Amino acid sequence: MGAGRRKLIVVSNRGPVTFGRDEGGERVARRGGGGLVTALRSLVSHHDVTWIASAMSGEDRTVVEQAGGGAVEETARDGSRFRLRLVAHDETAYDWFYNVVSNPMLWFLQHYLWELAYTPSIDVALKHAWDEGYVRVNESFAEAVLEELELEPDAAVFFHDYHLYLAPKLVRERAPDALLAHFVHIPWPQPDYWHVLPDPIRRAVHEGVLASDVIGFHTHRWRLNFLRAASDLAGADADFAASTASWGGRRSLVTVHPISVDPAEFDELAGSERVLAAERELASRRPEKLVLRVDRTDPSKNIVRGFRAFELYLDAHVEMHGRVGMLALLDPSRQDIPEYSEYVGAVQREARRVNDRFQQDGWTPIELVIEDDFLGSVAAYKQFDVLFVNAIFDGMNLISKEAPLLNERDGVLVLSENAGAHEELGDWALTVNPFDVAGQAEAIHRALTMPAGERRERLEAIRSHVREHDVAGWIEAQLADLDRVSARVG
Ligand code: F6P
Repeated sequence: MGAGRRKLIVVSNRGPVTFGRDEGGERVARRGGGGLVTALRSLVSHHDVTWIASAMSGEDRTVVEQAGGGAVEETARDGSRFRLRLVAHDETAYDWFYNVVSNPMLWFLQHYLWELAYTPSIDVALKHAWDEGYVRVNESFAEAVLEELELEPDAAVFFHDYHLYLAPKLVRERAPDALLAHFVHIPWPQPDYWHVLPDPIRRAVHEGVLASDVIGFHTHRWRLNFLRAASDLAGADADFAASTASWGGRRSLVTVHPISVDPAEFDELAGSERVLAAERELASRRPEKLVLRVDRTDPSKNIVRGFRAFELYLDAHVEMHGRVGMLALLDPSRQDIPEYSEYVGAVQREARRVNDRFQQDGWTPIELVIEDDFLGSVAAYKQFDVLFVNAIFDGMNLISKEAPLLNERDGVLVLSENAGAHEELGDWALTVNPFDVAGQAEAIHRALTMPAGERRERLEAIRSHVREHDVAGWIEAQLADLDRVSARVG
């Protein structure tokens, strides 16, 4: 099987659309958020897709009720049809699943964010949230997949991300021959760090994923950590040369496919009237040199240290006062989780502190914008002199691929060595250690004083890489993996 249409069941917590009502009371489908959903959206144009996702809004729940729990027909922006099956989880179970276990527990663990001298405490509440939240929601997803597999037994199932570690095993137990793939979009930590979780939980995570025929990661680093952890924590037989892990009488292929973006979509956006208007506005008030960061307000993004680094840069370069500014465009994220809402406070305090030290008439060193403004970010992509990505850990970081595509000022990418994107773009970026604020300050200086020729060469190299390795290639590579494993078992 090669390029033809396939039957696919895509499973992710967030769906491609979420429903609401417009001012006139009419139902409207709004585009679901996040890089994953954007990346997967093109699947529906080329394949017969049933997409299973959580019902997020009240209107989503009404859709589920009206569909009797089954799928509804949806039309993508390009006119392609797909089936959408929203799962209306028990609301309390979903709260435990999303706000207690997935984020922060698993997310914090997988980005090394716990301060182990103090947090976390795995108490009764956490265990309860695991049993009655994470397990329950994974069971509901597995149930929906099994019902869809009854309708289309040949469909391949694509699970995505850390919300769904248990679902593959739950499906496998009842559909032993199903073709299952799981793609993990966030880092896989080293085996010892998984010991933050009690044995039954960390084992369930690894065994759950190991029930898949293909397990995908963005980088070799996360792939190797997975093979090591699968062997140490779940007793899988890992073959590092073949990149397989055998467990429970099955062999999983463990692959690396770095996610990417659709350059054509960004080219189109860059020329759209709304982006041009936002760009004109930014251009009219921008400092001579613009250091840009675009992130969700997530502790893994290392925003507070980024501001400290900028402060150190300003300390060392008085000649740049009044001429350089950092623009932080931050999308509010997961605000029902105390660790996340507190982080927004820390970010605001730090920006304020730095601004209070340096600000002068007509110059605010850090401009902090906390709102969901994707088009405003796209406008800023065109305008930066330095793109600053200092994540503590990041599965990929798509900003570091999107923004250089559109930049018009030969901007320089400063990139954390712990962002997945570094494995691909590291040669052309200025590499920083996310904890080394002094090094980050130096990188800002180096970027701002780099000769024009070198800046252009580096930016062009990033662009050609991203254009050559786009999201269509990411998807094709995964479909080719499915062919490899079905040829092996078929
Ligand atoms: O990186 C993993 C991911 O699921 C992304 O796809 C997405 O952009 C982000 O996390 C958003 O998370 P949430 O669904 O919690 O808003």
